Amino acid sequence: MHIPSIIETKRDGGVLGDEEIRSVIGAYTAGEMPDYQMSALSMAIYFNGMTMEETASLTRAMLDSGEVFEYPESGPRVVDKHSTGGIGDKVSLVLAPLLACDELWVPMISGRGLGITGGTLDKLEAIPGFRVGLSREEAMAQLEKTGVVMMGQTADVCPADKKLYALRDVTATVPSQPLIVASIMSKKLAETLDALVLDVKFGSGAFMKTGGEAESLGSAMQAVGEAMGVDTRVCYHTMDEPLGRAVGNALEVVESIETLKGGGPEDLRRIVIALAKEVSSADESQLEGWLDDGNAWRKFQGMVDCQGGDSGALEKLVDVQRAPVIRDITAEHDGIIIAVDAETIGRCSVSLGAGRSKADDVIDPTVGFDQLIKVGTEVSTGDVLGRVHATDEAGANLGERALREAIRCE
Ligand code: URA
Repeated sequence: MHIPSIIETKRDGGVLGDEEIRSVIGAYTAGEMPDYQMSALSMAIYFNGMTMEETASLTRAMLDSGEVFEYPESGPRVVDKHSTGGIGDKVSLVLAPLLACDELWVPMISGRGLGITGGTLDKLEAIPGFRVGLSREEAMAQLEKTGVVMMGQTADVCPADKKLYALRDVTATVPSQPLIVASIMSKKLAETLDALVLDVKFGSGAFMKTGGEAESLGSAMQAVGEAMGVDTRVCYHTMDEPLGRAVGNALEVVESIETLKGGGPEDLRRIVIALAKEVSSADESQLEGWLDDGNAWRKFQGMVDCQGGDSGALEKLVDVQRAPVIRDITAEHDGIIIAVDAETIGRCSVSLGAGRSKADDVIDPTVGFDQLIKVGTEVSTGDVLGRVHATDEAGANLGERALREAIRCE
């Protein structure tokens, strides 16, 4: 295999064969193909796309790079959800334990922050001690015990996505349909699911900017899932303003805990219930009940305990993970909030330290925004539009500028 020729074929708009794609993924996973060649190939795919056959080959090659989950014959139904990514999208943290209340098994393999969007693993790691790097055996044992596990790609499970995901994050090659399909579906197929719901986002804070792009992505993922025998549902949600009122790793865990205890922002709870209904046999009032009566919260605490996290720290996470500077940003005039631009807030969160610009950047779990105002709210001068959490005054200034730019009040 001559890797420069494969990159050249894609650069010039050609189509790669199954064997070529398998060789590339095999070599990259084994450390025999350097990041600079994979970066070049990813950028060529970003610009020239892939056919459905190439996308299926890429997904299959990435799936085959690691182990897949296997369950006992008489085990419970195995379900999961995956989002294509958005700002303030903490749905997984609430949904996975909620589904486990329905005696389903939820073996959720997630990713870290990607581009301007936050990642479930970075959020979970804001909980002191929480381990996301579980082996398949550890994950299976935990499913038997609590019905829910939230983990990352490892050297054994989805290793190709683990490497490629981190590379795409810092090489501006995330918003590519075939790369997103293969990344998401290789993880979900490794879970050997009975049913999957995909939450496809579109809008300023999503990788797909229009409904048309989102539909094309959703149908491609559904086709791959169905071809592999997984009952695959797709839901579409806008991502023009952040989901909920918090953006940033620890801040989003705090908001998830509020939601798991029956409170939390209304838009977050609505999406959680809508997605849960797609893969659970429980009806809406039962699902609402598990949030309101503390069952989902207890499942979450149990999962945190199993994965080495300090569940006692959960209720005081605001203090445990407190940024040095917290500044209220207030309205300068009366009016109605017309827009809260998710992309501007996502970009600023990354600059504050909540995401990465280089592969080895270390995440700051404390920074971000909370108490964000929602579109449609009437405000008076002096009302809080949001709070910025930063490491220093310069960061708080940056956050204030971004928030004022993001919010339109008329
Ligand atoms: N989520 C993933 O797991 N991969 C992507 O490429 C985008 C969102």
